Amino acid sequence: MLQGKKILLGVSGSIAAYKSAILVRLLVKAGAEVKVVMTPDAAHFITPLTLSTLSKNEVGTAISEGSSWSNHVMMGRWADAMLVAPASANTLAKMANGLCDNLLLAVYLSAACPVFLRRQWMKTCGITRQRARMWRSY
Ligand SMILES: Cc1cc2nc3c(=O)[nH]c(=O)nc-3n(C[C@H](O)[C@H](O)[C@H](O)COP(=O)(O)O)c2cc1C
Repeated sequence: MLQGKKILLGVSGSIAAYKSAILVRLLVKAGAEVKVVMTPDAAHFITPLTLSTLSKNEVGTAISEGSSWSNHVMMGRWADAMLVAPASANTLAKMANGLCDNLLLAVYLSAACPVFLRRQWMKTCGITRQRARMWRSY
């Protein structure tokens, strides 16, 4: 089912970010081509090097690095599906409100494909639930 599919994995800052290594491994094993974008905070939980090695692709962590920039529009259009896992409460809130202050969010806003979220937070507070509802209503 995933053979030849282009999957864009967005990783945000959550303790569950370590599982993204396993997820990339499983997706690659299933025949998918995987590219990873991470928020800057996600890199505190799992290194871009690990995800780059497992996905066999460069990992995007910043909209611009030095004098070059990451083509978030091309990344968003490249994918057959985008999966954000884990989606931190912070990233979910930014997505729900259309914020764009990191590469993951820029790619998300450019994505022309279906986007799937795996939310991850310790406690489901009212505002987070409200944002999840808001996101689902789009
Ligand atoms: C040890 C640790 C564990 C965390 N676990 C979670 C978590 O499970 N879910 C979550 O939403 N935020 C968690 N956070 C908070 C996020 O890392 C923080 O909100 C961060 O700003 C998220 O940034 P990002 O969404 O840009 O990746 C954790 C923070 C720390 C230090």
